[in-house]
Amino acid sequence: MSIKAPRGTVDLLPADTAKWQFAEETIKDIAKRFNYKEIRTPIFEHTELFQRGVGDTTDIVQKEMYTFKDRGDRSITLRPEGTAAVVRAYVENKLYGDPIQPTKLFYFGPMFRYERPQQGRMRQLNQFGVEVLGSDDPAVDAEVISLALSCYRELGLKSLKIVLNSLGDLESRQQYRAALVEHFTPHKEELCADCQSRLEQNPMRILDCKKDREHPAMKSAPSILDYLNEASRTYFEKVKQYLDLMEIPYVIDSNLVRGLDYYNHTAFEVMSEAEGFGAITTLAGGGRYNGLAKDIGGPETPGIGFAMGFERLLMALEAENIELPIENALDVFIATMGDRAEVEAVRITDQLRRAGIQVDKDYQGRKMKGQFKAADRVHAKYVLVLGDDELDKQTINVKSMSDGTQSEIAINELVSYMKQQLGGKE
Ligand code: HAM
Repeated sequence: MSIKAPRGTVDLLPADTAKWQFAEETIKDIAKRFNYKEIRTPIFEHTELFQRGVGDTTDIVQKEMYTFKDRGDRSITLRPEGTAAVVRAYVENKLYGDPIQPTKLFYFGPMFRYERPQQGRMRQLNQFGVEVLGSDDPAVDAEVISLALSCYRELGLKSLKIVLNSLGDLESRQQYRAALVEHFTPHKEELCADCQSRLEQNPMRILDCKKDREHPAMKSAPSILDYLNEASRTYFEKVKQYLDLMEIPYVIDSNLVRGLDYYNHTAFEVMSEAEGFGAITTLAGGGRYNGLAKDIGGPETPGIGFAMGFERLLMALEAENIELPIENALDVFIATMGDRAEVEAVRITDQLRRAGIQVDKDYQGRKMKGQFKAADRVHAKYVLVLGDDELDKQTINVKSMSDGTQSEIAINELVSYMKQQLGGKE
């Protein structure tokens, strides 16, 4: 039996990678416009990083990590997300000592989660994310949300919704936690097994449970927003004020708790509202994580960021019928007739390529007609025809495929002629 790709993974074939690259480039340009710099951290980390960073009681750490012992008997985990790793790199490389503050970083790459695969849920998923470390200015929260929204908008998406919440500071959350425990304890037996243990370990995660969503106690649960202390409330008000100033629409959802433990204050998600997008509508999620750097052994440093799933971004583009403007034409295809021409074509192909022109030729031994068909298939802008007659005269026939015009050009002038034809392309 032939070997297939593992469940929850996909191959991106050239037609897909062209779209991915376009989206990646667009988004990286936006990140640079916001003055974020790229960081690349390892694909695997010590397991402890995620246990401490993402949190021992989260689904990610309890059920979804690809963890294994390496040959030196160390516990290693394929990164399930980027934030803990970026903060680890920030602490380890003492980026807090950099005079340019806050530290504004972006990353792009694969993450790994052992989830039940379905549309929009992969075991190897790709995220674009940003992290800002070293500022607790609420304007940074608004900036990060604006950056997330810009990525989707500039790729042409329209059916978007931003959901916003505040998880408050530690004091607010402790009060809220106590209120939740009091609220849910009388219903403990009616909740799912996961929620029964969440009630002790991490009661806020009950609000996010898919199984118990319809339980009446969910609707009557207390709201975090009623438990925010003065400082947390003021902070949240400022974030909203900045979003209003930037005319960024959002809806408040006090049940938005996010699936990772490091969050406090601002939490947000970007959702797709496109028809036919599917059951999973979250495109991106993020929030503030002021305690994370300290939790993993660094100095107390405020931080905020978000990550967007690239598979879901591509799904959203499809759901909204957005065609990305992908250039798939080839500058030049060289067609030859006869053995001498075939040899000379190898030299000319190489010369044009070195001059920065995109060139291909036939490698299938096709007849002239077949070579023109092949040129058509790759959308060649020009077909260069070389046969014995041309070789004797040291010329080559240049045919423009857009208007059908043909010119005979001296081979030793071909590079500069083609450059000119292709619009000064270097
Ligand atoms: P997250 O909500 O776990 O947050 O993931 C962010 C996004 O990654 C999701 O909204 C989704 O688009 C995508 N994603 C997650 N899991 C999958 C999956 N199994 N298949 C396909 N896409 C998926 C984080 O990862 C945080 N690190 C975000 C963050 C950055 N918070 C602060 N800074």
